[in-house]
Amino acid sequence: MRPTKGIQAVYAHGNGFLKDHFYEAFVSGVPGVFNTRDRVQHTRKRKIVAHAFSPGAVNAFETHMAENLRRWIGQLDRIAAAPERDGYAKMNMMPWCSYIAFDIIGDLAFGAPFGMVKKGRDEVETQLSPNGPILLAPGAETLNRRGEVSSTLGLLPSLRPFAKYLPDPFFTKGIQSVQNLHGVASIAVAKRLDATEKDNAQQKQRHDILDMLVKSKGPDGTPMQRDELTSEALTQLIAGSDTVSNTSCAIIYYILSGEREAPGTILSRLQQELDTAIPDSTAVASHAQVKNLPFLRRCMDEGMRLHSTSALGLPRLVTSSSFSFSSVHFPMGTVLSVPSYTLHHSSAIWGPDVESFKPDRFLHLTEAQKTAFNPFSYGPRACVGQNVAIMELALIVGTLFRRYDLVLEQEKLESSEGFSKKPVECWVSIRRR
Ligand code: HEM
Repeated sequence: MRPTKGIQAVYAHGNGFLKDHFYEAFVSGVPGVFNTRDRVQHTRKRKIVAHAFSPGAVNAFETHMAENLRRWIGQLDRIAAAPERDGYAKMNMMPWCSYIAFDIIGDLAFGAPFGMVKKGRDEVETQLSPNGPILLAPGAETLNRRGEVSSTLGLLPSLRPFAKYLPDPFFTKGIQSVQNLHGVASIAVAKRLDATEKDNAQQKQRHDILDMLVKSKGPDGTPMQRDELTSEALTQLIAGSDTVSNTSCAIIYYILSGEREAPGTILSRLQQELDTAIPDSTAVASHAQVKNLPFLRRCMDEGMRLHSTSALGLPRLVTSSSFSFSSVHFPMGTVLSVPSYTLHHSSAIWGPDVESFKPDRFLHLTEAQKTAFNPFSYGPRACVGQNVAIMELALIVGTLFRRYDLVLEQEKLESSEGFSKKPVECWVSIRRR
């Protein structure tokens, strides 16, 4: 049995499987499109959200991405302007990938960036009760803690009612993070809705995810109420921030480590392609300039394969009594999953060079490799934001390598595992080209 057949069996449309109870640990407030387990509720929410991510809608996001990227390169220019040795400055790219990813998704989902790039700090505003004081919390750290604690409690549901009383700070801090994060969304949605009420004309001109959600209507013609809007905006923040920051950082790492492994085979080709597409005078690449660059896209795909940001098996519940796979019968209630990391690192699928960064393998994929490449999952619960993700990654990585020379300053990429796989750090030397 080919391992890739498992993806279709477990995740495809029409198999009747549900997201497992695991996802209940991710709900704060009311369930959102990512963590609802109810099929009817999901179909309604997915329709609304998918509309916000149609190719036409996504094009309108470019202005917001460009503004944030302009601030980002302003900060990288500042860092590069203080070289330590041979004209290069040393920096950890990981936090800067977090700042840009958070600011972009904050801008798209809440109508304003969090200001992390500007401050150069992991800091967002949160409000723990509706009329409580506005506090500052570390956004990326909060999100990671929340992913780790929710994944753990998703696997150990009997601990959930007591988790906040457990002395281990993993749980107490993790649960505090869930509340902080809900507070981040509440305050951001409230600010935006209040501003919309005050200045309707001005807000109408802003095309972003929140705008789409505010204007959307359910099948009965009623708009989403504030608690549902908050949950959906929070879902976008969670789904679209550390996924993009972890993936962009990993792609940058793998491009640089691939160049170190086989000098002259990666960076010069990438920079030549970018130099041809993006004029010297352009600080931030436009989507039109980067969206069809074949080598950049192969580098992104190969980086996503090797890192596998969504690495773990996304659990699905068997809902029929007649499901068999590879001649084995799985009773109703069995939880099944196919971890993307395993598929992405299988030498049976990718060959003996599976652990090497070789973007050109994407020039001639076998059918098994096409199916096994699964960074955004598959079927009705696959990533609804993948158009946005690919656009953002191309803009971040394309802009970065067009503007700077980078050298890798660490031996390997350590990562930590929560719901998504996060590079711990990524030390590079940087200089303006
Ligand atoms: C490189 C970046 C990204 C990766 C690797 C990624 C990956 C994934 C994966 C694997 C899933 C399935 C999760 C599951 O079944 O539990 C998913 C779902 C989802 N993603 Fe993404 N994602 C990325 C970026 C984004 C962005 C930028 C957004 C929004 C702006 C987004 C919004 C969502 C939503 C809303 C879902 C839930 C879909 C549903 O259940 O119908 N993602 N993503």
